[in-house]
Amino acid sequence: MIPAGSPDISIVVPCYREVDNVGPLVAALDRALAGRAWEVIFVDDDSPDGTIGAVRALAASDPRVRGLRRIGRRGLSSAVIEGALSSSAPVIAVMDGDLQHDETRLPQMIDAVAGGGYDIAVGSRHVDGGTAAGLSSPWRHRLSEGGIGLARALIRPKLTDPMSGFFALRRETFDTLAPRLSGHGFKILLDLVMSAPVPLRAIEIPFEFRARLAGESKLDVLVMVQFLAMLVDRATGGMLPLRFLAFAAIGAVGVLVNLAVLFIARHLGGGFVDGQTAGMLVSTAANFWLNNVLTYRDRRLRGPRLWWGLALFMVVCGIGGLANIGIASMLVAAHHGWTAAALAGALMSVVWNYAVSSTLVWRAR
Ligand code: GDD
Ligand code: MN
Repeated sequence: MIPAGSPDISIVVPCYREVDNVGPLVAALDRALAGRAWEVIFVDDDSPDGTIGAVRALAASDPRVRGLRRIGRRGLSSAVIEGALSSSAPVIAVMDGDLQHDETRLPQMIDAVAGGGYDIAVGSRHVDGGTAAGLSSPWRHRLSEGGIGLARALIRPKLTDPMSGFFALRRETFDTLAPRLSGHGFKILLDLVMSAPVPLRAIEIPFEFRARLAGESKLDVLVMVQFLAMLVDRATGGMLPLRFLAFAAIGAVGVLVNLAVLFIARHLGGGFVDGQTAGMLVSTAANFWLNNVLTYRDRRLRGPRLWWGLALFMVVCGIGGLANIGIASMLVAAHHGWTAAALAGALMSVVWNYAVSSTLVWRAR
């Protein structure tokens, strides 16, 4: 029986390429939450496998199923945030869309926060009775352990599994914290806990992390880099312009690439101008690629947009290069030292390149 009226609980499910898991997950929720008024909100980042189509098909005959399709965006945390913000239920639970989280623990998690006894209920793989058996490889285990250790040192309340993506809280708590969230990366629980002005009262509920049956994990080394960035961001209260620092660091790598190509060209018998031209082209393309996968991972360009973006980036950096030379030679003409002039020129061009490429090349859509 499908209960009428508004739901008491919204289950927010971030999903990317989970088309085969949508139906089984709804069926599992139906069993686990029998007798409760619930809804599930799938937040899909326009998966190429048609995940949202599977959601729409179920929603056509089941009003408890909702779908939110985001276009031109990626990110587990921001998906969860937007799904949760679309809820009007008193309690929100967040779980993965790949059946790795044990939905039979949901009633216990919901009841723990609904009455106000706890602020957040966290499904934990590391308290007695919970296991991380489903993590796909030994190095995923190590990555997970390392991240947990680091996070534990930094946050209160102490959670045994601060990386968990399986938790429940009152919507009122979420609404209060929402404006403070960084929304970057994939560690939404950490983001919530670290953004709370007063430590949240947490209860941990053990569960067994199941092995994935369909689809594949989307977490990789780059996600870990993003995780470190989020910890730094939270620990410094968002004071460091992390995106700019990443852009500048990649720029510095570009200088090395440029020199390497010049060096190789010289060994192949090329002249300075040829070598330097090749060096500039290769290093700019390399910078574009690195920025696309790291700095602007959340707005990553693909397909035809990628080539258009590369062309635009080349133009932007070309102008940045001219500005660099212009400023530096002006300063040299005004009798400043070469080093100071070169540094000022480089600073000028990195600020220009960053400002223009983040608004034009990787503009937020
Ligand atoms: N909308 C959206 N956008 N969903 C995403 C994205 C994204 O960019 N990336 C991943 N997801 C969805 C997946 O489809 C899945 O439902 C869920 O987020 C978790 O992603 P997985 O790729 O299955 O992650 P995992 O199994 O390796 O990671 C698990 O362990 C982490 C701790 O190590 C999850 O439980 C995470 O929640 C948990 O933080
Ligand atoms: Mn998973």
